[in-house]
Amino acid sequence: MGEAFFAGLARYFPNPQQQEKLLLLSQIERCVADAVRPLLDRHGLRPRNDEELHAIGVEDMDRYQDFAWHKFMEEIIRTFPGYMDEFAALENIAPNEDRDLLQPFTRHEVVGIEFAERELRDDPESVDVLKRYIREFPS
Ligand SMILES: [Fe+2]
Repeated sequence: MGEAFFAGLARYFPNPQQQEKLLLLSQIERCVADAVRPLLDRHGLRPRNDEELHAIGVEDMDRYQDFAWHKFMEEIIRTFPGYMDEFAALENIAPNEDRDLLQPFTRHEVVGIEFAERELRDDPESVDVLKRYIREFPS
């Protein structure tokens, strides 16, 4: 869902540099989804197929139509901590052997927030945190 969401947002942010950043955010979502896949397998869970998930990811996208880039960054900073709470709750109820595999969830929100904060400060190296995160995963 996240992969399609960030990639789809490029429609509303025609600036090529912003599009590149959105694609990095999209890539991160893919990394996380792939990284937690072994957990789903371990527990016999089957995710919905990518096509279905991508459709859900772009469902409410129109609300971003009039967003300026900075407003979108503020939205990330405002909303991502909520996801972190959910992932922390998941880690708390997870068996010990699963906890390490759940880390990418929480960490990708931390990385997203750090990126958005850097963007708001006009940090020219803002994407470094995203690229560093992506490099941790096998491609
Ligand atoms: Fe995400």
